[in-house]
Amino acid sequence: MNKYYITTPIYYPSANPHIGHTYCTVNTDALARFKRMTGHEVFFLTGTDEHGQKIEMYAKKNGCEPQEYADKITSGFKRLWELMDISNDGFIRTTDKRHMECVQKVFKKLYDQGDIYKSEYSGHYCAQCEAFWTETQLKEAGGVCPDCGRKTELAKEEAYFLRVSKYAPRLIEYIRENPDFIQPVSRANEMLNNFLLPGCEDLCVTRSTFKWGVPVPFDERHVVYVWVDALVNYLSAIGYLSEDDSLYRKFWPADVHIVGKEIIRFHTIIWPIMLMALGLPLPKKIYGHGWLLFDGDKMSKSKGNVVDPFVLVERYGVDAIRYFLLSEFPFGNDGNFDNATLITRINSDLANDLGNLLSRTVAMIGKYFGGRLPEANCTVPEEDAPVIEAAVSLAERMERAMDEIHPHIALAEIWKLISLCNKYIDVTAPWVLAKDEERKTRLGTVLYNLAEALRIIAVAVGPFMPNTPKKMFEQLGIEEGELTTFESIKTFGLMKPGTEVKKGEAIFPRIDAKAEMEFLDNMIEEQRKKAEAMKAAELAAEAKTAEPAKEPEKPAPAEEEKKEPEKPVITYDDFAKLDLRVAKVLDCVEVKKSKHLYNITLELGEEKRTVLSGIKDWVKPEDIIGKNVVMVYNLAPRKMCGIESCGMILCASTEGDGDVVPLTTLRDIGSGNKIR
Ligand code: ME8
Repeated sequence: MNKYYITTPIYYPSANPHIGHTYCTVNTDALARFKRMTGHEVFFLTGTDEHGQKIEMYAKKNGCEPQEYADKITSGFKRLWELMDISNDGFIRTTDKRHMECVQKVFKKLYDQGDIYKSEYSGHYCAQCEAFWTETQLKEAGGVCPDCGRKTELAKEEAYFLRVSKYAPRLIEYIRENPDFIQPVSRANEMLNNFLLPGCEDLCVTRSTFKWGVPVPFDERHVVYVWVDALVNYLSAIGYLSEDDSLYRKFWPADVHIVGKEIIRFHTIIWPIMLMALGLPLPKKIYGHGWLLFDGDKMSKSKGNVVDPFVLVERYGVDAIRYFLLSEFPFGNDGNFDNATLITRINSDLANDLGNLLSRTVAMIGKYFGGRLPEANCTVPEEDAPVIEAAVSLAERMERAMDEIHPHIALAEIWKLISLCNKYIDVTAPWVLAKDEERKTRLGTVLYNLAEALRIIAVAVGPFMPNTPKKMFEQLGIEEGELTTFESIKTFGLMKPGTEVKKGEAIFPRIDAKAEMEFLDNMIEEQRKKAEAMKAAELAAEAKTAEPAKEPEKPAPAEEEKKEPEKPVITYDDFAKLDLRVAKVLDCVEVKKSKHLYNITLELGEEKRTVLSGIKDWVKPEDIIGKNVVMVYNLAPRKMCGIESCGMILCASTEGDGDVVPLTTLRDIGSGNKIR
C-alpha cells in the first residue's frame, strides 16, 4: 500500500483559532481523506507551536504561565478540529516531551558535526514573527518587519548558528532540478530570486533573551530558535530519533507540507537545509496556499477582522462550511471571505443543486415506481451519454486535481456532474414521460441513471463533506460496502434495480438569505468589537508594563533629559484651530474590556457626546459626575474597544506615573461654552 504523509503548519496558540486556520486544516483534511479513500496509508499531522517569546508575552498579558496559556488555547484548537471532522492521525505540541527531546537530539547532532557553531548575533528582530531580518530585507520592506509590518528591534546576543551558507548552493540546485518541490511554481521563483540567489547568511538558531523554549542541551543559557524547534515537529511526531521510530521509517519523507504562503520561506529554505545537514531526504512537496482575506486584508486575530468558525458551524453545519471553504477559494490564491457568497453557496450549490437533485430523484422513484429503483434498458445515447461519461470519468479527474493539491478543482468537477444531472432532468422531463405508459421504460432508465450518478456523487463528496455521503446513501438505499468505494465509482451501473429508496429530510435545507445576512454581519461586527477591545486592553497593559520593566536596564538619564522637550512656539492661528469647550459630565462608567478607560457621557448645551478617557487609575466616577470639564471638541473621532470616542477631556498631569487631574472651571458656566 502506498503511504502518504501530509501535514498542516503547527499553529501558534497565541489566540483562539479562526476561519483562516480552519481553511488550511480543512483543505489538508480533504487531501488526507481523499488519499485514504484512494487506497493510501495516510498519516495526517497537525498540532501547535507553543514556544517562543510571542506565547510568553501573551501568557504574561493574560496573567498566567506560558504552559497554562498554551494548554488553554491548544484545547480550543483541538475542539475546533473535532467539530470540523478533521481526521488527523497525530497532534503534536512542541511542549510534548517527545518533541523537546527530539529537538535537543537534532540540535546536538548538528552541533557535534559542526553544522551548528557558536558566535554572536546582532540584527533586526521581530518578536511577533520570531524572525531576524537582514538590513537589506528590512530596507526593502520600508524599515519594518517584511512579514507583519511591525517595528523590529535591534538585538545582539551570543548565539549558535546553522551553516545555511554551506548548504544553500545544494538547495538551489535541488529546487531547480525538482520543479514540483515548491508549489505553486511562482513561490519557487520567489524563494530563488528573493532569498537564495542573492546569497544566504548563516541562521541564528538560538535565543538567550527569554526562557520559554527548548533548552540547548549543552548550554542551557540558550533556547532553540522557535522556527527550528517548530520545524522539527514533522519528524518528532513520527518518532524520529526515538526508541520507537517505526512511523518515521514508514512515513518519512513527508509527501506534502501544506503551509500558508507567509511561512513558505521557512519551509523551503531553513527546513530543507536542516534536513540536508541531518542527511535526511527532503519532503516531496511544500505547498504554499493563499490567504483568506476579509475586506481585502489578511484575517488575523490581531487585526480584528476574523470570522469565528464555531459560530458558522453551529448555524449552518460542518459540511456546509467545509464545502464553502473548499470550493470558494482556489487553494493557491488569496480569496475574499464574504457573507453574501457564503449564503449563496449554501442555497444554490448545496440546497438547490445537490439537495434538490437527490430529493427530486428519490421522490420521482417513489411516485412513479413505488420507491423501487427501476431498470435501465431504454437508452437514448445523446441524452444519457453526457451524464454517464462525466460520472465514470469523475474519479480520474478528481485524482488529477487532488495530486496537484487543488481540492477546489476536484469539487468543481463533482459539481459539473451535478449540474449535468440537473440539466438531464430538464431535458428528459420525467414528469412528461410519466404521463405516457409506453415511455415508462425510458422514464425508468432516466431515473436509474440519476440514482446511479447520485451514488457516484455521494462517494466523491466524502473527503470534502464527510457527513453527507451517509445521508445520501440512506435515501438511495445503498449500504456502505462495495458500492461506496472509490474504485466502484469508476464503473457506471452498479446499483441493483429493485433497490428500495427512501425519501428523507432535505440534506441541505434552504436558509433565509436576508435574515442570515443580518446575523452574519452582526457577528462580524461583534468579532471586530471583541478584537478591538482586546487590542486596546493589550496596548494599555503593554504601556503599563513596558516602562517599569525597561527602566532598570537603562543608564540613568541626565537631569535635563528627564524633562519632556519643550514644544515649539505656535502662533495664535495654530491655537485657534483647537475648539475647546466646557462640558458637563452626565455619566461615567467603566469600559468592561479595558483596564484604564471610562466611557463618559458629556453634555454640551443641547448636545450629548461620548468620550473615552484613560483616567480610571486616578479618578472615581463619583468625583467627576456633575462636574464641568474642558474638552477638545473638534478632535477626530476614534474607535476604542468598539466604542467611538468623540473628543478628549483635558487633564493636568505630573511627570511619569504620578497624578492625573481633569481640568474644571472656577465657577459654574453653562456647558457648551467655548474656551478662548
Ligand atoms: O506560522 N488565511 O503559525 P500560525 C489562510 N507556528 N490561512 C491562514 C490564515 C488566513 N487568514 N491565517 C492563518 C505559524 N492561516 C507557525 C507555523 S510550522 C512548522 C510553524 C493558516 O498560527 C496558514 O496555513 O501563524 C498559515 O500558514 C498558518 O495558519 C499560520 O499559523
